[in-house]
Amino acid sequence: MTVLITGGAGYIGSHTCVELLNAGYEIVVVDNFSNSYPEALRRVKEITGKNFHEYPIDLLDQEGLESIFLKHKISSVIHFAGLKAVGESVSEPLWYYRNNVIGTIILCEVMKKNDVKNLVFSSSATVYGKPDTVPIPEDSLLKTTNPYGRTKYMIEEILRDVYVADPEWSIARLRYFNPIGAHISGKIGEAPQGTPNNLLPYISQVAVGKLNELKVFGNDYETQDGTGVRDYIHVVDLSIGHVKALEKVESERGVHTYNLGTGRGYSVLEMIEAFEKASGQEISYIVSKRRPGDIPVCFADTRKAFEELGWRAERGINEMCEDAWRWQWRNPEGYHSIEADHQTSLEKESTKFFVAPQQEKVLK
Ligand code: NAD
Ligand code: UFG
Repeated sequence: MTVLITGGAGYIGSHTCVELLNAGYEIVVVDNFSNSYPEALRRVKEITGKNFHEYPIDLLDQEGLESIFLKHKISSVIHFAGLKAVGESVSEPLWYYRNNVIGTIILCEVMKKNDVKNLVFSSSATVYGKPDTVPIPEDSLLKTTNPYGRTKYMIEEILRDVYVADPEWSIARLRYFNPIGAHISGKIGEAPQGTPNNLLPYISQVAVGKLNELKVFGNDYETQDGTGVRDYIHVVDLSIGHVKALEKVESERGVHTYNLGTGRGYSVLEMIEAFEKASGQEISYIVSKRRPGDIPVCFADTRKAFEELGWRAERGINEMCEDAWRWQWRNPEGYHSIEADHQTSLEKESTKFFVAPQQEKVLK
């Protein structure tokens, strides 16, 4: 039995592929590479020494998606594919609703048609909006504040309705807090396109000399040092959480909702300090005004995931920063430069890699 990973070439998807392969699962990856590179999957194979099929297919391409279910005996799906930039979702809401919401509906329709009803879905702590209390338990009021967050909220609701209509489905809705860090090998990590929006990739690029200085968005919040506090979680811990969630949906039907965080918040200034320690580099920063839409404090109540999945995050902030730094200095351009070289060799040998008509691509 095989697990289909949508968005498996992305940041969290690629790390989860590693953990699934290490746990003995067979996987198949579908990704349209709109925010990722095939090189990430090549490196997953290098890290694990295992091979798998990958398909450059868009979730909106229903026929293409169906061909995967005909070709492979899929038992479960982990669904990462989605657009995730909050600001972009405000300027391009229709694109976000189409890609994220309609993409998920198409996926579920294809799953239903093929009698595959186990699904693990990437939701986000953004569904909580500005929380009334911290730590945030799963049964908090949901009041997300931007189109990206609303796509996650809508998908969560759609998935509940799917289960209510047919209790043969088994679904996990995982609300991630702030994933950072990279695989210990330094071979895979977060590779944002353009200037990063998120704190850790920004700090990493200042440390490696690609960006001049960080802007700290506000130091007048009611927090220990006035800067925003978040629950940063190592991407490998998060990935292991997916393996546990998959075990859960495969063994117990229902709609299971879990926070995946550490339960501990760090301020922006604490993160700068931790990264300086891990990298030995000074991080230049200036304090600027608050970023519109930011909340002061956000961290998870992690008890439910521990009680029901037996999972808790184990890697601390130093390890997160050390691993992020290793990835950054070894790959200052992310996957980009290697991907460009690789594309050239792919063009030369294209017939070796592409098998029509399913667009199957197997990289060694
Ligand atoms: P990512 O952009 O690195 O990965 C998403 C992948 O999905 C990319 O490889 C992209 O090419 C692919 N994709 C997007 N639309 C697609 C489509 N229509 N068809 C096929 N492939 C498509 O992002 P990530 O950080 O790995 O996030 C994975 C999931 O987790 C996303 O759904 C995101 O919203 C969610 N999430 C991320 C964070 C975070 O901070 N990184 C936090 C909470 C939730
Ligand atoms: N920050 C800065 N300077 C920067 C970037 C961020 O000071 O250049 C601060 C922010 O103000 C915030 C903290 O660093 O206090 C973290 O900001 P991020 O942008 O890294 O993360 P957010 O918590 O704002 O948002 C992230 C994702 C969302 C997701 C949310 C919860 O971007 O998509 O986590 O999972 F919804």
